[in-house]
Amino acid sequence: MPVTSDSHAYRACLLWFPDANSDQIHFEADGLLVTTLGADGVSRISAIGDYRALHAAHAHLPTTDWRGRWIAPGFVDTHIHYAQTDVIASPADGLLPWLNNYTFPQETRFADPAHAAAVAAFFFDELMRHGVTTALAFATAHSASVDAFFNEAQRRQLRMISGRVLQDRHSPDGLRDASAAQSLYETEELIKRWHGVDRLGYAITPRFAPTSSEEQLHGAGELAAAHPDVWVQSHVAENADEIQWVAELFPQARSYLGVYEDMGLLRKRSVYAHCLHLDANDRDLMAERGAAASVCPTSNLFLDSGFFDFSLAQSHQLLHALASDVGGGTSFSPFHTMHAAYTVARQSHGKTGRSLSAQHLWWLHTAGAAKALDLNGVIGNLNVGCDADFIVLNPQATPLLSRRIATADSLQEQLFAMVVLGDDRLVERVVVNGTLV
Ligand code: GUN
Ligand code: ZN
Repeated sequence: MPVTSDSHAYRACLLWFPDANSDQIHFEADGLLVTTLGADGVSRISAIGDYRALHAAHAHLPTTDWRGRWIAPGFVDTHIHYAQTDVIASPADGLLPWLNNYTFPQETRFADPAHAAAVAAFFFDELMRHGVTTALAFATAHSASVDAFFNEAQRRQLRMISGRVLQDRHSPDGLRDASAAQSLYETEELIKRWHGVDRLGYAITPRFAPTSSEEQLHGAGELAAAHPDVWVQSHVAENADEIQWVAELFPQARSYLGVYEDMGLLRKRSVYAHCLHLDANDRDLMAERGAAASVCPTSNLFLDSGFFDFSLAQSHQLLHALASDVGGGTSFSPFHTMHAAYTVARQSHGKTGRSLSAQHLWWLHTAGAAKALDLNGVIGNLNVGCDADFIVLNPQATPLLSRRIATADSLQEQLFAMVVLGDDRLVERVVVNGTLV
């Protein structure tokens, strides 16, 4: 990539995944990162490596000196509900009462464009504070909610993916689609309006099988086939009562996941939140189709939904990555999510508890998350050619973190300290599309 006057250099410790398909981290203690603005308006990484090796060739560039700080890829949240920002921390006896008592009433408010715009602005502020530079987000069952989301993301030059929720039954007034045909028509209009505009992408978004008629799910599958580069997002196999309900509503389906398979909704770029109670056939089918699982540990612990099985996901080669699932999830912080994922992986295997490494957890929330979204080489990494979306970490952010990192014997221990002790205070700055936020 040519270095131009639109280039900028940063000197800092650098952390990234040279082979995006592997969780092997490369750490450059004194590194140089160079970004260059492309003709398409996207700023990308144009060089990365050891400062001594690179600085002569880039000495003419404006250079920001962040020595002592760590530059890392912006985090990627593979499942979040922007319209549930005001639902976070709402207690309930499990998923279905939580949806009925808190979530659905809040989401009905997004018919109002002014409310949607205000929440979207707060939501993106919150993502930035936590170092999340891309999210695959649910909007609500109102086109206005999607417009508010994308308008705000576009204004901030973010790479973001979202979609209008499809739900034409078992939903309250104000949130229930008037008809499947109308909801699908609006989806197609939104795809035309937003997909591929700047760094925005559209996701066809049936909420979950119980709140869609067969007609609506089938229509969503037809749209997914007509627009293969558009994403699909939904929920599957989260909670025992939900699974029982799906079995009653779709008695012909082989499993809960089978409903989506039957409707043409399992393919590359389809991302299913939770995937807790799958069987071997389900896992193989998802892997075969190239569909991905969004792992939402803080949500699953909070709503007592269950434990994601990382070992089975790996052995079935099921694409999976981390997500907050706010407002079921209890934090916007990728550090809290990684910490919860570690705890879940330890506990879900009983006596043979499994310790996910810090670098693997970090990969699952950056380069691995990009891979799950079929955005490998675009986001979640600092390799040359990736979008210039990155965060600046201050390892001295808190007294305890500072002390623990100073006593760590290895990079792995330092990363692990950040996973366990980190939060928004660790994220000192965020650079989006080559610009300091
Ligand atoms: N299943 C259907 N809708 C939702 C939702 O909003 N959150 C979660 N966690 N599960 C769901
Ligand atoms: Zn969700």
